[in-house]
Amino acid sequence: MGKIVLVSSPKGGSGKSVLARHLLVSASQAGLDVLGIDFDRQGTLEKWAQRREVTRATFPDFAVATVKSARLQDWRGGLRLAERAALTIIDTPPSVEDHLPAISMLAEMSDLVIIPAVCTQDDIDSVGPWVEVLKKRNERSVVVLNRANRRTTSFARMRGKLVKIADVCPVEIPQLEDVHVPSSKGLTLLDYSKSRGQEPFEEVWAYVRRQVGL
Ligand SMILES: Nc1ncnc2c1ncn2[C@@H]1O[C@H](COP(=O)(O)OP(=O)(O)OP(=O)(O)O)[C@@H](O)[C@H]1O
Ligand SMILES: [Mg+2]
Repeated sequence: MGKIVLVSSPKGGSGKSVLARHLLVSASQAGLDVLGIDFDRQGTLEKWAQRREVTRATFPDFAVATVKSARLQDWRGGLRLAERAALTIIDTPPSVEDHLPAISMLAEMSDLVIIPAVCTQDDIDSVGPWVEVLKKRNERSVVVLNRANRRTTSFARMRGKLVKIADVCPVEIPQLEDVHVPSSKGLTLLDYSKSRGQEPFEEVWAYVRRQVGL
């Protein structure tokens, strides 16, 4: 079994799928044999990967990013997909409470749980209990701040609150209005030679890579 990174947060729209696809592309560009598993019935990550395959048929230079879908009810079967990959990135739905046993087991089988969080009190209210559950189960987890705006005082205040209850990634992803644009072609900001917002995603990848020992 290779390394497994679980992207999970009970808060909807916190950036799980965006982060998962940027990590997939980073890993693939680094030459790793990486696989995405989409446990979200919405299939956001899987649909993105299907669009990517269509784009790659014309532009094969874009890095391969294979994503398979799986059901939380059959998390074991889903994880078997990970057996041959050097790295597996798992995207999950926000409904952690409704699937606690399955998502907890995925966390146990993972080398790192990444919890994307926007810097708002609502996110902290939602993420805090999940961090506690993971801590009690001795799972390694790290919060990645998303849609961050360093110029606001609320960002610093919320970051301060999170640092007290969780391990927080030293790099945050800023608010990037265009982060969704490349997705319509199955791409990410990392697929372009220069685009605003590339660096933080590269740095989060470097951090994650070191944390899981790849
Ligand atoms: N850093 C960012 N800057 C601007 N918009 C962002 C950023 N990150 C995510 N978004 C946008 O926020 C929305 C939610 O992101 P995403 O789908 O990744 O969240 P999610 O946690 O996977 O949601 P869900 O819980 O529904 O699966 C998307 O429209 C996405 O484009
Ligand atoms: Mg999602």
